[in-house]
Amino acid sequence: MTIAICPGSFDPVTVGHVDIIKRASKLFDRVIVAVLVNLEKQPWFTIEERKHLLSKATADIPNVEIEGFSGLLADFAREKKASAIVKGLRAVSDFEYEFQMALTNRKLDENLETVFLTTSAQNLYLSSSIVKQVGIFGGDIHSFVPECIHDEILLRIKQRSQLK
Ligand code: PNS
Repeated sequence: MTIAICPGSFDPVTVGHVDIIKRASKLFDRVIVAVLVNLEKQPWFTIEERKHLLSKATADIPNVEIEGFSGLLADFAREKKASAIVKGLRAVSDFEYEFQMALTNRKLDENLETVFLTTSAQNLYLSSSIVKQVGIFGGDIHSFVPECIHDEILLRIKQRSQLK
């Protein structure tokens, strides 16, 4: 049984994330999507909200599970007996950061490989930050997020913008 982890902040999940998760689900028997803490980012959505949105967005993929974890990715992967971390790579700008994380994770666990999937061309520019920025200023985010969670994401972005 091959097990992979798709880690990320998912703040919130985008169609780009779902594309990577779907493609990973064809390569591995079991894919665990892990909502983790990125100390560099201030999240807008709680871990529970992000897990809920991911569950809805991936409900049609049978071998995918959603979990949250507040420690090291390498520890989580070991606990789950995963052999690989799967991440999407958009552009050269992602490379240095992703390379650093991949090397760190392998330093922490020499058996843990990171597999990069190249993003689909239509998602090259897309990120969770873009979703929040476009949404907060009233732009159309329909093509950025899965349709089934569009309204929930937009509502949360609007609530959040009123707090500022
Ligand atoms: O979607 P992101 O923000 O690019 O994902 C980054 C994430 C959450 C995968 C990364 O910050 C992470 O692995 N956090 C957990 C803590 C950890 O293991 N840090 C060391 C890896 S360099």
